[in-house]
Amino acid sequence: MTRAVRVRVPAKVNLCLGVGPLRSDGYHPLATVYQTVGLHDELVLRPAGSRSVEVVGDGEPVRGVPTGPANLAWRALDVLGQHHRTRLDVAIEVHKRIPVAGGLAGGSADAAAALVGADALFRLGTSRAALLELGGRLGSDVPFCLLGGTASGEGRGELVAPVPTVGEFWWALVTDPEGLSTAAVYAEFDRLTAGRSLPEPDVPGELLHALEAGDIRRLGAALTNDLQPAALALRPALAGLLEAGLASSAYGGLVSGSGPTVALLCDSADHAAEVDLTLRREHGTAPALIARGDVAGARLVEVAA
Ligand code: C5P
Repeated sequence: MTRAVRVRVPAKVNLCLGVGPLRSDGYHPLATVYQTVGLHDELVLRPAGSRSVEVVGDGEPVRGVPTGPANLAWRALDVLGQHHRTRLDVAIEVHKRIPVAGGLAGGSADAAAALVGADALFRLGTSRAALLELGGRLGSDVPFCLLGGTASGEGRGELVAPVPTVGEFWWALVTDPEGLSTAAVYAEFDRLTAGRSLPEPDVPGELLHALEAGDIRRLGAALTNDLQPAALALRPALAGLLEAGLASSAYGGLVSGSGPTVALLCDSADHAAEVDLTLRREHGTAPALIARGDVAGARLVEVAA
């Protein structure tokens, strides 16, 4: 019997996020390109007499993350257990570094890590395709957190396919201690677009060409997010930050996903540090998180037999 497993899982940014009209199931059709960034949560899973989820960051419990059945990692054990017709009782420790409710898929990342971890812990041998399908049931971003790298997302975001890229990507991620609710940002999007007929979303060809050619300048100019006006409406202070970011030496920038994190595209760690310094000096922002783009998805890093 395996005693414990440790899984590492990255955050994501969206390089583009096209959003279509509200569907009858309460979701919006999306056309997005996701990219993982080197900012990781780690989950430790151990078999236990009953199920539990503990979330810690810097040795302290993390506020604002549910520890019961509302936690996506807990629900991941439900869907994986149902798939194998068994009950998975696991004690999960989440070591949180991805900001909570930041538009960086922190909750989805933990769900992806719980799927990978529980599969290894109980030697379930779940196929990759089944893990992706189960992930899609848990949340729109979960399959991408399993896949990693850079990938397109369609449907409501859960239908993922790798996208070829060349070159290095670095991000200065300016986070906000006060998160934004994804559902609230989509509701604001509906309010702002009410009465308009929205086209079916599409990934811009220019963005795919820039990724394939490794042309970071073109990529910076092609970044786009249909949820950005809604995030700015709910958090007006983001507008000034975004403007300062775009005026810096970054190649481009946008609100990541439903926000409020602002992601600024750079071509090296030094460049991202320089952008961060400019923003701290000229805009008084807190230190940004600096992370490399395009890293592996949820993966096992330790198995204690
Ligand atoms: O899929 P996930 O549970 O992460 O989505 C959280 C919320 O975001 C949904 O309940 C829905 O309100 C909104 N959403 C949406 N359309 C999507 C993805 C999410 O409206 N494609």
